[in-house]
Amino acid sequence: MKAPRGHWLLGHIPHFRSNPIQFLNACDEDVISLRLGQTALLLLHPDDVTHVLETSEHRYSKGRAFQYGRQLYGNSLLTSEGDDHRRQLQSIGGVFLKTAADSFLTPAEPMTQQWIQRWKSQPTFDLWKAVSELTATISIQAVFGSDFTPPWLPGVVTNDRVATNDRVARPDGSATRMTNADSFAGRQIAEDFDTAMDYVATRNFAMINPPEWFPTAKNRAYKAAISRLNLAFEHAVNRRLHGAAHGGFLSRLLELHQRDPVTVPMLQVRDQSLILLLGGYESSATALCWCLLLLSRATPIRDKLKTACRSRNIIDSRSSDAEPLESAAETLISEIFSESLRLYPPPWLIPRTCVENDRLPTGQTVKKGTQIFLSPYRTHRDARWFDSPDDFRPQRFALQRSAQFRRGSYFPFGMGTRHCIGESIARSQAVRILKTIYSLCDLEFPAKEWPKTKPLLTLRPELPVLARFVDS
Ligand code: HEM
Repeated sequence: MKAPRGHWLLGHIPHFRSNPIQFLNACDEDVISLRLGQTALLLLHPDDVTHVLETSEHRYSKGRAFQYGRQLYGNSLLTSEGDDHRRQLQSIGGVFLKTAADSFLTPAEPMTQQWIQRWKSQPTFDLWKAVSELTATISIQAVFGSDFTPPWLPGVVTNDRVATNDRVARPDGSATRMTNADSFAGRQIAEDFDTAMDYVATRNFAMINPPEWFPTAKNRAYKAAISRLNLAFEHAVNRRLHGAAHGGFLSRLLELHQRDPVTVPMLQVRDQSLILLLGGYESSATALCWCLLLLSRATPIRDKLKTACRSRNIIDSRSSDAEPLESAAETLISEIFSESLRLYPPPWLIPRTCVENDRLPTGQTVKKGTQIFLSPYRTHRDARWFDSPDDFRPQRFALQRSAQFRRGSYFPFGMGTRHCIGESIARSQAVRILKTIYSLCDLEFPAKEWPKTKPLLTLRPELPVLARFVDS
């Protein structure tokens, strides 16, 4: 089993922790035994991936994956297990699937237009921050209605801001008065998620962690971020309960809670709304950021995309010819986005814990308690499943070709029951955002070097990724 050599005492922890992507690239067997302080297996073969995530998923739980970050994730669709997860999927997931398309997709195009205006005036901007601002704004609106609409979005959505006496936690743990909804800007919510996720990711990979109650700067910043997120949630709930606001997925969750407070307690309303907000913006922002970067280096594909996106503007939109051209642009964007998710899958590592002794399709036995890691990033770059795996070739996702992919070789949205509930939203939203950008302008990246990867909970580019909008 070929994996980088581990330290005699600390095993693979130092290497895995300092540069997990380099570590993954150096692994070239299907089953890698990891020494990460406990027995752990890295499974890279598609048959094992399918087995763990789909066919034998009852033998694997999310287990220790969320031991850090409970205060962030709570007991939600993402973290619950077994019957509890099935119940949540039925009640919350059902409502989400019925309503999300409208709330996450309708604002995508007008908000992207406003967002381009906002950043077009800047000589350069940090692409990750700007894109996460856009996806966070869309998600915050989808979940919290217009409660935290940022000031740069005039006219797209109504801002029913109301003076409040809410109290906002400061980083030092004290509280201050909030005067109106703007003080609770959506950007703050995204920053607090960032702080919290950074903290959880660091703890996941650390050799030694101080207890959460110990007053280190990072522990304090994490706690403050969580209390601000909780306050933002309480603020939005209180406004709905007092008739000062309505709308967003939160209103749906509150209806469920009011109808059946035992099955959907208030804590559940909090956990689900925050997890959908997080799921809705972080992975999408990471995916879009890499996609825009990949396109910047693929001029012929970008030119084809611009032509496809702009053709509809040239042809009278009432003409019957407009429709096929529009779908040609959308098909092309879907292929581009799929290929970008292959090269840079936002969740780059999917963890599980074995809860029942098992034997994998590749023959490996797995003992109960073993920690399992699956890596979309590494499996997606295996030459056995994808020709020239490091090349950006969207045409490999042309319909007839992608149907031939081996099951379990491509899983940016996971597989099985725990498959991403937001996949179709994320895909359609990306199509709308990318189409809006390339219909109106283009992006340039002044830096010559390709950004390094920064594997946190998602696989981000190392910051800053300087970009600028250009007319072309
Ligand atoms: C490009 C964007 C996205 C990617 C790549 C992505 C990826 C994933 C992956 C890999 C999982 C499975 C994790 C596991 O098996 O442990 C997952 C789960 C989940 N995702 Fe996404 N996601 C994206 C967008 C979204 C969006 C837009 C939402 C909601 C608005 C969302 C909400 C969720 C939720 C709630 C789960 C947990 C599902 C469950 O366990 O039942 N995601 N996502």
